[in-house]
Order: sequence, then structure tokens, then C-alpha cells
Amino acid sequence: MRRKDDIQKAEGKLGVLIPGIGGAVSTTFLAGVEAVRRGLALPIGSLTQMGTIRLGKRFEYRIPRIEDFVPLARLDDLIFGGWDVFADDCYEAALKAGVLKREDLDPVRSFLEALQPWPAVFKQLFVKNLSGSHVKPQTSHLELVEAIKADIASFKRKHAVSRCIMIWCASTEAYLKPGPVHASLSSFEEGLKHNDPTISPSMLYAYAALTSGIPYANGAPNCTVDIPAMVELASQRQVAIAGKDFKTGQTLIKTILGPGFKARMLGLTGWYSTNILGNRDGMVLEDEASFKTKEESKLSVLETMLQPDVYPKLYGGFHHKVVISYYPPRGDEKEGWDAIDIFGWLGYPMHIKVNFLCRDSILAAPLVLDLVLFMDLAQRAAMTGIQEWLSFYFKSPQCAPNLYPEHDLFIQLKKLKNTLRYLMGEEQITHLGLDYYYKV
Ligand SMILES: NC(=O)c1ccc[n+]([C@@H]2O[C@H](COP(=O)([O-])OP(=O)(O)OC[C@H]3O[C@@H](n4cnc5c(N)ncnc54)[C@H](O)[C@@H]3O)[C@@H](O)[C@H]2O)c1
Repeated sequence: MRRKDDIQKAEGKLGVLIPGIGGAVSTTFLAGVEAVRRGLALPIGSLTQMGTIRLGKRFEYRIPRIEDFVPLARLDDLIFGGWDVFADDCYEAALKAGVLKREDLDPVRSFLEALQPWPAVFKQLFVKNLSGSHVKPQTSHLELVEAIKADIASFKRKHAVSRCIMIWCASTEAYLKPGPVHASLSSFEEGLKHNDPTISPSMLYAYAALTSGIPYANGAPNCTVDIPAMVELASQRQVAIAGKDFKTGQTLIKTILGPGFKARMLGLTGWYSTNILGNRDGMVLEDEASFKTKEESKLSVLETMLQPDVYPKLYGGFHHKVVISYYPPRGDEKEGWDAIDIFGWLGYPMHIKVNFLCRDSILAAPLVLDLVLFMDLAQRAAMTGIQEWLSFYFKSPQCAPNLYPEHDLFIQLKKLKNTLRYLMGEEQITHLGLDYYYKV
């Protein structure tokens, strides 16, 4: 691991490679970055662009902006490329996604139009409710990996890119329980040779990225870099990996409220979460196998955060249900309802209703930006393998196999900021603060 001045400089262009570049999240991210670069909008929701970090003692008032404190790539140095199963350029795709208004897209139209997706590696078996024709003709796993690598190599050449990051913003793949082929790198590579049907397209992209020395972050809930084979590959090739499933919307609220209840030792008997959404993501999640992937990711949050085994009287046996309904009139403007049944002093019950009328991709886009910049920082700082300090961004944070994931948003934020302090040789902030009052 490199720290302070040993961190490799963020020089040259940073290539951002996006499977699913024509989707709602990707196009909202791309249009937003360009609008910010042109001074037309603010990067709201992005910690790297808007956030600050406290350093040293409170009376020192040292609170630099994060982007001034750590050596991040500049927005002007980002270059984009990616794959999609639809051939629409990113302007056309953004119009279809219907997240941003035409009046916000038009000022960045030429930039978006220039982003033409490369044909995708796609197998409908993994995304049943989607069919697109803009796919690679190769059929064998190894040929497909080579085709992805060839796309990356020509992108790097064309734009004189010095480093790349790959971030999966494509559809959620069907639920897959990791099996023997995913258990080690050698069995995975054997599986590649034999076109094992349990190797998904996202794994082919990730394999191509990692073997090219490119960090990979997974924005969807399907398993990709969280299988042992990929963890081994990342460690062997000294590349950063992170995942999974962007923490937006209902789960974001859950990881804000849940730690609050737990902090006050309030009990929970049930949490019923339902959503309606009408975008393509919602359509994909109509399929049972894709929904199961999402459900697993959403359900794990409360269980791990509230620790029923540690607090059986407060959290033993609570009911947790998550429902997602595809309802086209809403488009990307998802509505989430949470009915939360808690109890307090002497067991008296109370009820909380949360009705979040959110915009999914508006919440996700700044996370994509932060992940791109922090993954690049990690790679330049030789922080390879699983990037648990980026748990802040994920619904199902990937961590070492012997640990349970940390879901509490506030602990995640502390971990992230302490990691940045550590990287830059600054003191860790423990919030003890006794030395403000006593000689310790
Ligand atoms: N929007 C959010 O708040 C949010 C939060 C968490 C996770 N996610 C996840 O992020 C992903 C993107 O969400 P979205 O709303 O943009 O969905 P979307 O359906 O609008 O976009 C996904 C894009 O991926 C493309 N695609 C599918 N399979 C592909 C493949 N194999 N290769 C290349 N392209 C492929 C689709 O054609 C589509 O354009 C989904 O997996 C979603 O579950 C989104």
C-alpha cells in the first residue's frame, strides 16, 4: 500500500468503462458529469465533489474539501466508453430512460451522441425480460473475453488513456448460487474453456477487466467479483474490486433509520417495504430470477445491521418483507413505502410510515462518480483486492470472507473518511475528545 507522496499521481486520462452504458443510471451519470464540467449544474449527492473532511483537533478548524485533500482524478480527465444490448447512442438512450428532461440533456447533446455503445456480451438466460440485438456474435466464453479486451485496448489507444476503471451499470442478472466453478480461479478458468453455463456475462466482463489490470466495481446485486475465483484473481493481479448494488432509495433510508433505532435500543417487530417503479430496471426485476437477486441484496441489510443474535429481545424474529412492483406510469420516479413496527419502554408498540417519492437514477448517478474516482485512487495507492472502505456506496458491501458486512451508513462514512486520513498520513478521528477537557 502506498501513502501520501508515494501514491501514484492522477496524471493523464482516466477511462471509465461501463457495461450498460445506455441505461438510466449510466446516462444520468454521464449527462450529469458533462453538465458539471461545463459549469451548468452542481454535483449534488457526490461526496468526492461536495464533501469535506475534518482533520486534527476540532479547534484547528481544518476542514478541507475531499477533492483538495486526496489526489483524485479531475472530472475533465474522465473519458467514457461502454457496452449495451441496444445500439442507441447515449443521447437517444437518455431520452428513452426519461430521467432527465430534454432541456437538461440538450446542452450536453453532442457529448452524449458521441457515446455509441459497443456490442454487448449478453445471454438472455441471465436477464429474461430483456432482448436486444446489439450483441457480440462470438459464442464461446474465451472468445467473448478476448472481444471485450479488444474493445478496451482500442478505446485506450484511441483516447490515449493512461488508466481505466470498469463499473457495472447493466441490468440485474438472474440469481445464481455460487458453485464449484466459482470456487477457485483454476476451476473458473477451466469453466471458461468449457463454456460453463453458470459463468454469467458480468463475470466475463469482470474477468476481462481484472486480467487487464483494471479495477471493477459492481453496481448491481448479481454476484460477480464476490465469488472466490474473482477475489483470487484480483489478489493475483493486484487489482481493486468492490461491490455490490448501489445503495440508493429505500435501502439508503433503511440504513439511516435502522442504526437510529438501534442506537436508542428501540425494538423492531417488522419492516414491510414495498416499491413501485416503471423503468427498465423495474421491468427486468419483474422476472422472478432477477428479483430474487435483488431481494437477497435488500433483505440482508436489516438482519446484519440489527444483529438479532446479539440483541434477541429487541430484534429476534422481526418480520422483513420487500416487494417490488413494475408499474410503467411511474418511470424512473420510484415510490417506496415502508411500514415500520417498532416498540419502546415496557414493550409499547409504535408505528412509522415512510413514503419516499424518489428518483432512482438521480440518487445512483453521484455514487457512480464517487466509485470511479475512489477506485482509481485505491488502485494508484496499491490498495488491491476488496475495497471494504467503499461499503458506504453499496447495499451488500463486499468484505473479507471471515467478516460480516457493515451496513450502518454512519459507520461506513467514518470508515471511508478514516481510510482517506490514513492514506494521507493524518491522525484517525475517534471522537473520544477527552483531551479537550482533561490532561490524558
Ligand atoms: N437506479 C438505482 O437507484 C439503482 C440502485 C441500485 C442498483 N441499481 C442497479 O443498477 C443497474 C442499472 O440500473 P438502471 O436503472 O440504469 O437499469 P436500466 O435497465 O435502465 O439499464 C441497464 C442497461 O444495461 C443494459 N444491459 C443489460 N445487460 C447487459 C449486458 N450483458 N451488457 C451490456 N449492457 C447490458 C440494458 O440494455 C440497459 O440499457 C441495475 O442492475 C440496477 O439493479 C440501480
